[in-house]
Formats: sequence, C-alpha cells, structure tokens
Amino acid sequence: MTATIISGKQVSEEIRGSIAGEVKELAAKGVVPGLAVVLVGEDPASHVYVRNKEKACHDLGYYSEVHRLPADTSQADLLALVDKLNHQDSIDGILVQLPLPKHIDEKAVINAIAVDKDVDGFHPVNVGNLVIGDDSLLPCTPAGVIELIKRAGISLSGKHAVVIGRSNIVGKPVSLLLQRENATVTMCHSRTANMAEIARQADVLVVAIGRANFIDASYVKPGAVVIDVGMNRLENGKLAGDVDFESVKEVSGPITPVPGGVGPMTITMLMQNTLTAAKRHHGLA
Ligand code: GUN
Repeated sequence: MTATIISGKQVSEEIRGSIAGEVKELAAKGVVPGLAVVLVGEDPASHVYVRNKEKACHDLGYYSEVHRLPADTSQADLLALVDKLNHQDSIDGILVQLPLPKHIDEKAVINAIAVDKDVDGFHPVNVGNLVIGDDSLLPCTPAGVIELIKRAGISLSGKHAVVIGRSNIVGKPVSLLLQRENATVTMCHSRTANMAEIARQADVLVVAIGRANFIDASYVKPGAVVIDVGMNRLENGKLAGDVDFESVKEVSGPITPVPGGVGPMTITMLMQNTLTAAKRHHGLA
C-alpha cells in the first residue's frame, strides 16, 4: 500500500491565505509587517533561501529589506547593522542568514538581535522561553513541523514521537514542541545504539540528520507518520530528504516529500512570526 502524502506546499498556501487576510486588516490600521534579512558572503544555497524569503514578503505585502554584505564584512560592522535594525521602527523581524563566515562569532550576532524581533527564535531568551513553555517566537522549521502534523489531522497526544537528530535548529526544539503537544518523545542521534529498533517504535518519526536517503523502511513501523526535515543537495543537483521516500512510503502512514514537505513550511512560519512580531510591536496582540 502506498502512503498518503502530506503536502507542505498545500498547507503553506492555506496558512499564507490566512496571513494575507490579517495583513489586510493590519493595513487598515496603518501597520505593515517589516522583515530585514541579512546575508553575509556568497554561499549559493543561502542566496537562494534569501531570495525565497524576499519573494514571500513581496507576495504577502510585507515591507522587506535585504542586506547583502561581502564575505569580508567585519563582526563589528555586522553588529552595528543589527543594532540599527533593532531600533528601526519599520522593521518587526530580523533574520541573519546562517552560516556566517568563519571569522564571525555566530552566537555574538544572534545574541545581539532584539528578542522581540528574533523571528528565527534562535536568541537564548526565546530558546529559554520555549523550554519552560512560555510565550516566545518559535524557531520556524520546528514550528512548521508541528503545524504540518496538526493540519494533516494527526493528533499527537499520547503518541510516541521519535526524533532523529539533536541540532539546536531542529532536533532539540522540535522535541520540546512535540512534548508540548503531549507526545511521549524519544531522541536519537549519531551515537544512539539500535536506532532502527527505537525508530520502529515511533507512531510519529521526525528525521533531521542531514544525510541523504539515510532512513529506509527498516526504521519505520507500518502506518507510522514520517516527517522528513532533510534537505540534501545530491551530486546530480537534485534535492533529497533524509528519508528514502520510495522505500519508506510502502510501509509508512502519512509522509512528507522532499521537496514540497517541510521546506515550504519554514518560510511560512517565518512570515507568521513576522506578523506576530508586528502585532506585538504595535500593541495589537
Ligand atoms: N540557514 C539554514 N536554515 C536557517 C534558518 O532557519 N535560519 C537562518 N537564519 N539561517 C538558516
């Protein structure tokens, strides 16, 4: 049997539709959400991601600024720009595209972003609020994973969720959000013994390890929900997830494809966070 495909593209379009409605209401009050994206250097993948973010802002009627800086930009100059954006009234959200060149301390830059404008949810204060369950700007990809599961009509309460990967950007925050949804969460990583055996206990399997097609059908319980956060560029230029979609879809339940699964949700959640930040900035949320 072939599994149902969870379309992140379709869910993203639904959410962007409702964001567009809110943008109209805000415009009537004279408020336009504003996002500043900062890109340092020439990494081709980062340039593509930033263009996609710029386009999403344009399509939704946000104000946007993209600061493309040369690879030899000093940390002091970058921090000065962040400080300027922190104080700029037309800007509600600031995103500094990662990775940064090696001579720049990423933590220093993330820590410099105003907590209320940290639409990536990477600032330690937002991370801390996520851990203790307080209101915060949530990191976009993990928030997108949860939204995708919910909007596919899948209940997480009481389910066993297994997360493979423990990065600060995906694995750790997604495990916290799954707990918040009352799932029982197990985390696996590169040193986990018997990973396939543990993964096969999952009702919901979330994979974020950054290794193309790594997870095959031997990791998946029949009928389990499979969410693939991987985005790996193959030598032939094609994009592949961390999950071997062709083999896994023969045993799994609902599954996300790559591309067209979690990917589109990340930018949608960035737009959602920017809207939230704008509403808070103007006392409307
Ligand atoms: N580079 C890859 N993913 C991300 C992300 O979610 N945010 C930022 N700022 N940079 C990234």
